[in-house]
Amino acid sequence: MCGIVGYVGPRNAQEVLVSSLRRLEYRGYDSAGIAITGNGRIGVRKSAGKLQRLDDVLAEQPLTGNVGIGHTRWATHGVPNDLNAHPHLDSSGDFVLVHNGIIENFLPLKEQLLEEGHRFRSDTDTEVLVHLVADEYDGDLIEAVRRSIGRAKGAYALVVMSSREPGRIVAARMISPLVVGFGEGETFLASDIPAILPYTRSVLVINDGEMVDITPDGATVQTMAGEVIEREPMEVSWDAGQAEKGGYPHFMLKEIYEQPGVIEETLRGRLQPDGTAVLEGVDLPDGFVAGLDKVWITACGTAYHAGLVGRDVLEKALRIPIEIDYAHELRYRDPLIRRGTLTIAISQSGETADTLAAGRLATELGSRMLALTNVVGSTLSRDAADILYTRAGPEIAVASTKAYTAMLIGTYLLALRLGVDRGTVTRDGAVQLAGELRALPDKANRVLRMDADIAAIAGRIAGIDDIYFIGRGLDYAVATEGSLKLKEISYMHSEAMPAGELKHGTLALITDGTPVVVVLTQSHLYDKTISGLQEVKARGANVVAVAYEDDTEVAKYADHVLRIPRTIDFLSPVLSIIPLQLLAYHVAKELGHDIDMPRNLAKSVTVE
Ligand code: M6R
Repeated sequence: MCGIVGYVGPRNAQEVLVSSLRRLEYRGYDSAGIAITGNGRIGVRKSAGKLQRLDDVLAEQPLTGNVGIGHTRWATHGVPNDLNAHPHLDSSGDFVLVHNGIIENFLPLKEQLLEEGHRFRSDTDTEVLVHLVADEYDGDLIEAVRRSIGRAKGAYALVVMSSREPGRIVAARMISPLVVGFGEGETFLASDIPAILPYTRSVLVINDGEMVDITPDGATVQTMAGEVIEREPMEVSWDAGQAEKGGYPHFMLKEIYEQPGVIEETLRGRLQPDGTAVLEGVDLPDGFVAGLDKVWITACGTAYHAGLVGRDVLEKALRIPIEIDYAHELRYRDPLIRRGTLTIAISQSGETADTLAAGRLATELGSRMLALTNVVGSTLSRDAADILYTRAGPEIAVASTKAYTAMLIGTYLLALRLGVDRGTVTRDGAVQLAGELRALPDKANRVLRMDADIAAIAGRIAGIDDIYFIGRGLDYAVATEGSLKLKEISYMHSEAMPAGELKHGTLALITDGTPVVVVLTQSHLYDKTISGLQEVKARGANVVAVAYEDDTEVAKYADHVLRIPRTIDFLSPVLSIIPLQLLAYHVAKELGHDIDMPRNLAKSVTVE
């Protein structure tokens, strides 16, 4: 849960490292640092706080050289301060290292290294690694790193450099992500692809258990045992502009506005005129869908909320039991997953540690695992038997928006593909659903036009202690995501619940002026939800409703109505979430919070 970078080549390494870290800052932003080799010495600059603080330090004390490593941190061991910021030097100052992950046995290693005379400067688990490398060094950096890794247990992507071997950087990966980028006479390392997109699109994803040795001339990949691996880089199609703000004040707003395009892109080439879905990467064996007895969805956070929609959608389309679990819960249960179960692991990054572990457990139990992910070449995609890529492009804001919408589209495509195969979705049903899916980008554009109205409502909600999101069926699933969006960037207490659950307890908390957001699009549940709405209204709630534009009833009970274009109820989550994303955005803006980098959070949770 940190961002790491490395560079060797002719450019000013400081500029490359800081610019790459800027695109990785979403992964952690409580401190940052870089180290550069120049004139036979390693220079290190680091600082607690956001990257801007490091920029200030570098403006006063720049580093020169063409080889360097960098890090942006999300603290696990050791408070965020200057000393605990990476990079970390060994006692001699000849070796320097950055790390993303957790070294589980750092305490016994540290005791041993202290006894041997190593001097530690930080409270981090990471620092043991650089002392181990120094301890193991006998003239070849990669061998020293290999032996050090052999002594450490845990998760890591680490990058090491030594003044004794300038022009060379060694990196290794176990669980935490790592990619290599290739330019003309220059080579890059980073936690993810967008970090190096302005420099190259030729990228090699490093796998778990691999090491890589980079020089300006390229990279050699090896197993931990030293066996050289030949693998061709891939050309990525994302362009660098997608990872920039493009005139928007925040990445989150830009990403909300990108949603019509993301829906279109995720559907592109996948819907046939007869309503069937052609999904490259989903290559199920003959008879698999017919024999399917259960689908198990697993994910965390926003991806889990997309899974809640997926559960109802797949249940309706496939007519078999669909289970859903948080990945961090599933991985420690004894679930009844078996051969006839299709496990769908959903993850924007494809690197969430719990989701990876749950997916691996399902595979071990004999289930086929399908990854619904946004990141090509991510660990999840490589673990899975089948992959359905969402095509949201790089998502930078910590609060996920466009990736959620793309995941919803992914679940509809799966419902079409599997439902038609099973015969539980009729051809006519498929044609209708496909037609409605194609109409969504235009409708999403129309929802975005409500932005100014939503900003005005946000002004009345911002800073209130508690807020509730309610709905039923798919509307409840959307309420969970709306509530998460609001809490993670506004820091207001927010809860989502099925509207029918209010009277079982939470109604006691509704008093004069309590904001209640209700999502109201499911026709078969409409009257039931209206009853819940009347219950909160009678207790003085300030009600914001999200409803269809032709709804003539809701205005009688709601203080504000945000109207979305009509679609089939099955697809309404794609449209009804957008006003809730905008509401969260404007409330956080009103409160003056750091919208793209909310406190205590990071974009990818690559530790347990
Ligand atoms: O990369 P993933 O989709 O696996 O991430 C899962 C969650 O960490 C993520 O959705 C998180 O909840 C977001 N910050 C929500 O906006």
